[in-house]
Amino acid sequence: MAERAAIVTGGSSGIGLAISRALAEDGYAVTISARRPDKLEQAAATLTADGLDVTPMPANVASEDEVKALIAAHEERCGRLDVLVNNAGVGIGSAIDEVDTKKMDMQLDVNLRSYVIAMRDAMPLLRKAGAEHGKALIVNTASIAGKGGQGWLAVYSATKAGVIGLSQATQMEVGSAGIQVTALCPAFVDTPMTEWVQGQVKPEEMIQPEDLAETVRLLLRTSRYCLIPEIVFTRPGDPSAFAT
Ligand SMILES: NC(=O)c1ccc[n+]([C@@H]2O[C@H](COP(=O)([O-])OP(=O)(O)OC[C@H]3O[C@@H](n4cnc5c(N)ncnc54)[C@H](OP(=O)(O)O)[C@@H]3O)[C@@H](O)[C@H]2O)c1
Repeated sequence: MAERAAIVTGGSSGIGLAISRALAEDGYAVTISARRPDKLEQAAATLTADGLDVTPMPANVASEDEVKALIAAHEERCGRLDVLVNNAGVGIGSAIDEVDTKKMDMQLDVNLRSYVIAMRDAMPLLRKAGAEHGKALIVNTASIAGKGGQGWLAVYSATKAGVIGLSQATQMEVGSAGIQVTALCPAFVDTPMTEWVQGQVKPEEMIQPEDLAETVRLLLRTSRYCLIPEIVFTRPGDPSAFAT
């Protein structure tokens, strides 16, 4: 059995897939989760083909029951949880005058509500790991849109600002239990989520998913008394860097 274990939501693609690979390469048994089983199986297969200890577990994180089932399945397989990466997310642009209630609810459920539920239900396992080695870690993928609200992305921005606040508040509660919480706040990352913007910014000139994965490695290698509450990622020369 692996000495360390992790769950990554939104692990079938983009940022979550890169973080899953980095954790598995570093010896973690990783449960990767996403909504669409086929895409998830395919992603897991690319990692296991490289000899990595990765198990797919489909879950729609908008469902409380499915989040619970994900954590239970991970516990059943690994018996421990050292790193929880809440990363599943959706961004739906709209003018504030035209916000569609269903799309708003979906963003609130996936981007914010699911992070609360997963942290709550994973906390007993994280507390055990924190008591054991003092460096259990929760990584919550927020966005630069959570640092400064972006027009035509009001709901998305609000969910991501919520993730930053949620991360800070949780850290206040669990820091003394050897659990750290970090919010990642990237600008454009080259993933399927930013395909719509490729006409304006070339994919190869965006932040890469592996950049975020490397920072998760950094978070795990710093000492237990060094907390990094958030990391902001911007592109060189991007004025939004100073809006934070
Ligand atoms: N790319 C960027 O520029 C950027 C910038 C800032 C923040 N972010 C954040 O980074 C995170 C990852 O995004 P990404 O860029 O890597 O996008 P991505 O490649 O589209 O990946 C999104 C992941 O979330 C999963 N997902 C979506 N809805 C879900 C649901 N209801 N239940 C479970 N899983 C769900 C997707 O799988 P399924 O579709 O199969 O469900 C996929 O695995 C998101 O939270 C996003 O808001 C991205």
